[in-house]
Amino acid sequence: MLGFALFTWNDIAYNNKSLPPGTIGWPIFGQTIEFCKQGPNFMKNQRTRYGNFFKSHLLGCPTIVSMDAEVNEYILNNEAKGLVPGYPQSMLDILGKFNIAAVHGAAHKHMRGALLSMISPTMIKEQLFPKMDEFMRSHLSNWDSCNVIDIQQKTKEMALFSSLKQIGGFASSSIVQEFRTEFFKLVLGTLSLPINLPTTNYHRGFQARKNIIKLLRKIIEDRRASKEIQQDMLGSMMNINGEAKNRFKLTDEEIIDQIITIIYSGYETVSTTSMMAVKYLHDHPTALEELRKEHLAIREKKSLEDPIDYNDYTAMKFTRAVIFETNRLATIVNGVLRKTTQDMELNGYIIPKGWRIYVYTRELNYDPQIYPDPYTFNPWRWLEKSLEYQSSFLIFGGGTRLCPGKELGVAEISTFLHYFVTRYRWEEVGGDELVKFPRVEAPNGLWVKVSAY
Ligand code: HEM
Repeated sequence: MLGFALFTWNDIAYNNKSLPPGTIGWPIFGQTIEFCKQGPNFMKNQRTRYGNFFKSHLLGCPTIVSMDAEVNEYILNNEAKGLVPGYPQSMLDILGKFNIAAVHGAAHKHMRGALLSMISPTMIKEQLFPKMDEFMRSHLSNWDSCNVIDIQQKTKEMALFSSLKQIGGFASSSIVQEFRTEFFKLVLGTLSLPINLPTTNYHRGFQARKNIIKLLRKIIEDRRASKEIQQDMLGSMMNINGEAKNRFKLTDEEIIDQIITIIYSGYETVSTTSMMAVKYLHDHPTALEELRKEHLAIREKKSLEDPIDYNDYTAMKFTRAVIFETNRLATIVNGVLRKTTQDMELNGYIIPKGWRIYVYTRELNYDPQIYPDPYTFNPWRWLEKSLEYQSSFLIFGGGTRLCPGKELGVAEISTFLHYFVTRYRWEEVGGDELVKFPRVEAPNGLWVKVSAY
């Protein structure tokens, strides 16, 4: 009886003519199991049956999947009409109420403005790039002294420690180690179901958030007591606080959530792109040779231990192409999530309030009209046409929430690659499995044998 009632309810609730075509699947569970099992093929099959705009029920929510270029542009540019970020509750809870995905309207403009002022091209050039370079030079030392290294682990540490260096100049290993332990728990918590029991990852993630807050609060208080203004992101945020007239004045609570947001947003994107770039370069010696040529030309003008600077970074055209091609081919980000705050018309249909909208960009990456021979790793394609500036380029999102960390992320990966390819050769040990969906990862690590170049 209960099953029958649920099916009837499902039918009435979702088989409404004003909704787009598609299937909803099982009551409550929807199509989550098929989606998780089939991965990208699930989306491809539904698209073949129902077109670029269809309904489904995924991860506990009725969902519209959009692969339509025009509709996507509309969705990404019309947050004010009620299309706000639709990320899972665990993520919003653990990243904090001032985290950028949790705020909309004027509050979003404020947090985003504060962030953009800290990572503008001038700030990257003058303050952040020298820190990044100093960190990479030291982090990438003596990798050839170990027999084999797990490049996944190394790139994860690189992304986290590099952010910590830029945010607060944290080099003290006790702060970094404490942060690292808590941060890994926090990340797991954001990816779990929001069930608050002592044994759940959600609970541990929440506890980790509390410990991180305690750590950051103490650092802020110490800095305030010392009255020293430091040239790093935290220094900029605290200095902003000191200037009463500044448009981007932040409270301590906002500063803390902003720091967590910066580290969280750049962590997996930067580390996974770096790992996959190492993988693709290993598998494509001609691309590696071209990349190395670019970096050796930069080194030729310097002595062995000289840093590189922002001008060197802007000259790394092929490296930039390798980073975009890696992101495209591996699809580091499958798409972005929005939700409706009211019933609304979209693409000729009425989408009810509270539905999730999945702007699924993965398929764009393999569209042969945009990227001929799309399954081939071909960084040169980015040099021939200005693909980066076309509307189909959604690797860093688009519209009002276009990734503010794009240039910072690309600079970080470029600096990592600079020291990696000019210092080392590497050979994969072999046998490692790579999973591409829903996240790109090497479940048992990606092991490489490194020797001096
Ligand atoms: C390869 C590196 C990166 C990729 C592929 C990437 C990708 C993206 C994408 C697709 C979005 C859009 C999310 C949405 O619309 O809901 C986004 C937003 C964002 N990214 Fe990145 N990102 C990268 C690096 C970084 C870095 C290093 C930072 C650190 C500052 C960062 C900070 C952010 C923030 C704060 C947002 C939210 C912006 C907003 O809501 O206004 N990202 N990123």
